[in-house]
Amino acid sequence: MAIVAPSFLSANFLTLEADCKMVNESEADWFHLDVMDGRFVPNITFGPMIIDFIRKATTKVCDVHLMIVEPEKYVEDFKKAGADILTVHLEACTHLHRNIEQIKSLGMQAGVALNPHTPVEALKEVLHDIDLVLIMSVNPGFGGQKFIQQTLQKITNLRRMIDEKGLATKIEIDGGVTLQNAPDIIKAGAHVLVAGNTVFKSKDPKDTIAQLKKITR
Ligand code: DX5
Ligand code: ZN
Repeated sequence: MAIVAPSFLSANFLTLEADCKMVNESEADWFHLDVMDGRFVPNITFGPMIIDFIRKATTKVCDVHLMIVEPEKYVEDFKKAGADILTVHLEACTHLHRNIEQIKSLGMQAGVALNPHTPVEALKEVLHDIDLVLIMSVNPGFGGQKFIQQTLQKITNLRRMIDEKGLATKIEIDGGVTLQNAPDIIKAGAHVLVAGNTVFKSKDPKDTIAQLKKITR
């Protein structure tokens, strides 16, 4: 079964508690929280303070996706805020291995995200060190964009690399995931579906989560 991670980027921040409650009561597995700095991506969202509030409103896994430069400056703050999984972008990290070690040393799971143009082979030397690979299936920065089709081939290639090495690394797909394309994404080898608009803009978000959850390989 797919791991489902609703992205709060598409939630209503005026009634955030209600959206947290909805996700708590749903079959969703993770809370996906998108941190943007206006430098790595052309948008600004929220930081550890908001995540700290959200953390108190859920017992589910807190999956924090950092789209920021110099993540090492804030890794401890996100740990304190309650992140369980902390994902940094390969393109934002000159010393990626050091960033991964820092995240793990604080007891969090470490993820690495790849922009659409970055080949999965770029992870070859760190794959055995990380818990999660987040493949961006849109250019990061905004919700509600169209899924980039080439992502499916990247998923297949990465899954092969992971399986050949006998690793348990999870593949998370983020951007443009819909009820229509999710079966192909899972079939290609992904484990985790992030969904912002598909969940929060649907008529019955809980049911949409349940439908995503049902998808098997
Ligand atoms: C985009 C974010 C995504 C975003 C996905 O940069 O990383 O998590 O919320 O939104 P949808 O699912 O609407 O494409
Ligand atoms: Zn994200």
